[in-house]
Amino acid sequence: MTLWGGRFESDPDRILWDYTVTPEDHRLVVDDIRGSLAHVAMLGDVGLIPLGEVGQLRDALEVLLAEAEAGTFEFLDSDEDVHSAVERRVIELTGDIGRKLHTARSRNDQIALDVRLYMRRAGEERRRQLTLFAETMIGLAAEHAETVVPAYTHLQQAQAVPLGHHLLAYVWMALRDRSRFEDLADRLGVSPLGAGAGGGSSLGIEPGSTARALGFDVVFANSMDAVGSRDLVAEHIWCVTQAMVNLSRLAEELVLWSTTEFGWVTFGDEFTTGSSALPQKKNPDIAELARGRAAGAIGSLTAMLTLQKGLPLTYNRDLQDDKTHLFAADDLLAGTLTALTAMLGSATFDPPAPSPWVTALDLAEALVERGVPFREAHHAVGRLVSSLLAEGRGLDEATEQDLSAADARFEPSDVELVDVVGSVRRRVSEGGGSTASVHRQIEALRRLL
Ligand code: ARG
Repeated sequence: MTLWGGRFESDPDRILWDYTVTPEDHRLVVDDIRGSLAHVAMLGDVGLIPLGEVGQLRDALEVLLAEAEAGTFEFLDSDEDVHSAVERRVIELTGDIGRKLHTARSRNDQIALDVRLYMRRAGEERRRQLTLFAETMIGLAAEHAETVVPAYTHLQQAQAVPLGHHLLAYVWMALRDRSRFEDLADRLGVSPLGAGAGGGSSLGIEPGSTARALGFDVVFANSMDAVGSRDLVAEHIWCVTQAMVNLSRLAEELVLWSTTEFGWVTFGDEFTTGSSALPQKKNPDIAELARGRAAGAIGSLTAMLTLQKGLPLTYNRDLQDDKTHLFAADDLLAGTLTALTAMLGSATFDPPAPSPWVTALDLAEALVERGVPFREAHHAVGRLVSSLLAEGRGLDEATEQDLSAADARFEPSDVELVDVVGSVRRRVSEGGGSTASVHRQIEALRRLL
């Protein structure tokens, strides 16, 4: 049964129904009922519904809430959307009184409300998951504050750093991902309920009181904005997408690091998969799918932006599909954080030492300390590198003579600078790749978390 049969002479065609009814919004049933509870209480307070009837409506809505939370709330094929289902069920329980539920309300402000309530719940949940992910990574970083690996630029070995430093880079990224959801939570603190179909109501409703009851900070200032805008949905998807994109970078590194060539990490058998054909294989599928699923989030963000583009005010049915994109993206991040965090919890890192070449900058900096301009020092070490390469030797094979041939200001003891562990030990700059820095970061991060 539709909410709008009055002016129609025939029932909706099956084709129309199948095309226009998208059951995704069933996921909003709890939000829809909570909004209805606040709405009914307000209608009673302002005298639009007698208090006795308000009590009956509230009791019915409490029954619905229990059904929804237990997963037993039943949707019928004839329910056009979640709002219709809730109203239909309230009428089943209360009879004609239920027909007052929709007083001074429209599905347009109702859906705007439901989606906001969903995003507040989801945002909080994603923040919790990002915190767990960060804590797992911090645990690994603490274990590897002294394990030396190459930091890469251009995917070429660049400088020696603790593995913990590399892992913590992702924790800082995750913290920003988390704070994006926090920022959004402020903007989500505006209730759209009371905007009605888009222009408000001639009835003396009090949107401020439903807003307060639902935990919003304030109420909308413009009813057309309240029902017609979906920028906050796009913003939630953007928060999800940037987090997914960040995780896809970690995922790619985990895939690389678990190759025979890198040999940095192994994952627990329970978090890897095998090959149906190749008996020796152990595949990091969670990481591969995490990398791949960032594509879906980017797709959802693009779709959500495009859905708004050029759309006239206020509500248009196009906006029904915001939920498709919102839920798809949000589910991707939820699943990815759960799976990646679990996989990381099973990780054992044992990376080989970096190539001695990563200490080249230390040699140049030794000259700088003796007053040599950096550019000159860079060239001197460049000459050394070039002559060693020409002879097929590594930097760790450089002799005192090689050094002094490259620049007279090298001292014999400088050969000892070609040591990847020492390179990390000598690192003193704030936030740089040193063991002390890893420990400082972990302390700071633990405070922030
Ligand atoms: N089901 C719609 C949505 O999800 C809400 C109803 C909007 N109003 C209407 N007259 N169809 O966006």
